[in-house]
Amino acid sequence: MTTILGLSGSLRRASYNSGLLRAAVELAPDGVTVQIGSIHEVPLYDADKEAESGLPPAVKTLQDQLAAADALLLVTPEYNNGVPGVFKNAIDWMSRGPGLEIFVGKPVAVIGASPGGFGTVLAQDHWLPVLRTLRTRPWVEGRLLVSRAGPLFNDDGNLVDETTREQLFAFLTGFSEAL
Ligand code: FNR
Repeated sequence: MTTILGLSGSLRRASYNSGLLRAAVELAPDGVTVQIGSIHEVPLYDADKEAESGLPPAVKTLQDQLAAADALLLVTPEYNNGVPGVFKNAIDWMSRGPGLEIFVGKPVAVIGASPGGFGTVLAQDHWLPVLRTLRTRPWVEGRLLVSRAGPLFNDDGNLVDETTREQLFAFLTGFSEAL
């Protein structure tokens, strides 16, 4: 069984990106499990707090989940043409302590959803220098840019558009086959 740890970079209840990640759980190909990790309880990074108390429990949990996973799927919103701060903050925390070694060589794919017309293309590209610095193996053979997201999701943020679900399945299949 292949396990992919999936993280959504939005804290919003009916987030499109969290909905895209839940759909990835449902649409994972045979032999693949997508496990959802949460950044909700990750505090703002503070080097003084780290020196006093070490890594917060939510960060340790995410690190353990990533260490046990075969790959990482980042489901990213786009804020101001870049990576949302809360998401980058979580990854920054995860890179601390023994964190860097859990990223090294880890296959990582990035997808995202936006109500705008460009489907998080700039945020996805913005992740690349981070993934390189963490010495991951970014998987860039597939691309999933979910634009004009509003009608594709229901009021609870669940992905209901069949075409996008098929695109997500194809993306997950390609990523899994590369692992
Ligand atoms: C946005 N949004 C946005 N969308 C986009 O496509 N490109 C962008 O640069 C931005 N910039 C931006 C900045 C800030 C501060 C906010 C709060 C929002 C809109 C964004 O895509 C929208 O809020 C999504 O719904 C966020 O994703 P979730 O929460 O639905 O997953």
